[in-house]
Amino acid sequence: MNKRLEKIVNLNNYPIHDIESDQIKNLIKKCKFDLDKYSCATIPNFILPDSLKIMNEELEKQINEVYMSKESINAYLYSQDDPALPEDHPKRLFMNRYNGYLNSDCFPKNSEMKFLYETDELLKFVSACLGISPIYRWADPLACHAYNVMYPEGILPWHFDSCEFTLSLMIQKPEKGGIFEYCPNIRAPGNENFDEVKKVLNGDRSRVRQLKLEPGDLQIFKGRFTLHRVTKVEGNTSRYMCIPAYVLDPWRVNTPEHSRAIYGKVLPIHIERNKARSDGLAD
Ligand SMILES: [Fe+2]
Repeated sequence: MNKRLEKIVNLNNYPIHDIESDQIKNLIKKCKFDLDKYSCATIPNFILPDSLKIMNEELEKQINEVYMSKESINAYLYSQDDPALPEDHPKRLFMNRYNGYLNSDCFPKNSEMKFLYETDELLKFVSACLGISPIYRWADPLACHAYNVMYPEGILPWHFDSCEFTLSLMIQKPEKGGIFEYCPNIRAPGNENFDEVKKVLNGDRSRVRQLKLEPGDLQIFKGRFTLHRVTKVEGNTSRYMCIPAYVLDPWRVNTPEHSRAIYGKVLPIHIERNKARSDGLAD
């Protein structure tokens, strides 16, 4: 039994260390159903309250190191326009973004969140819920388990993630707003589905679902195939999340452009590993 994990995850309700138990098999079945149908599954009160407090404190202690970006960006996370495309192409629609990250390389060695991300128990559980194996921890040293900070007025417009699968752990909830919205499985490898993406960007709500998270809840999410956003944070309380990510390719990292725009810097690894993607999707 992993003694530290016992203090972080509610193993009584969710014994992820015992993947063969009936309790966890039932949970995996439910999560797999939700992920297949809605590209998203949630597990309430996954993190124990004392651990949540530690995560909140470790983020607030380093809040001055959060890289905030305020810019206009398209759903594929680019801020550069491409005039060669038709005027109404979804890549030419730019939206306001005001959002920040405490990059993973800032975390102290004994960080609560880093420890959780690096446990094999969590990796195996997420892999079983997705029904995909193997999956890997993300090789990106800045983005792999970053804390996400949205101050009042913060907004994260419609976009796709670079990594295939993300976990979202809510650490602190805003007073109002900051709602996660998503359009399940709107694109797939080899199929961008630009027409449907364009409809959503233009305000069509027919595919849009909302997810209301509470502190301690865990969300498992197929972010590369699901258009998603976070609505504007209202009131005086910031929205804190942690976003540990998993990928299909253990080698790949963010492109230099994304790393600079979202995490505020580019490391040699981003330049060395900047190769075309094999799934044919833009990012
Ligand atoms: Fe995202």
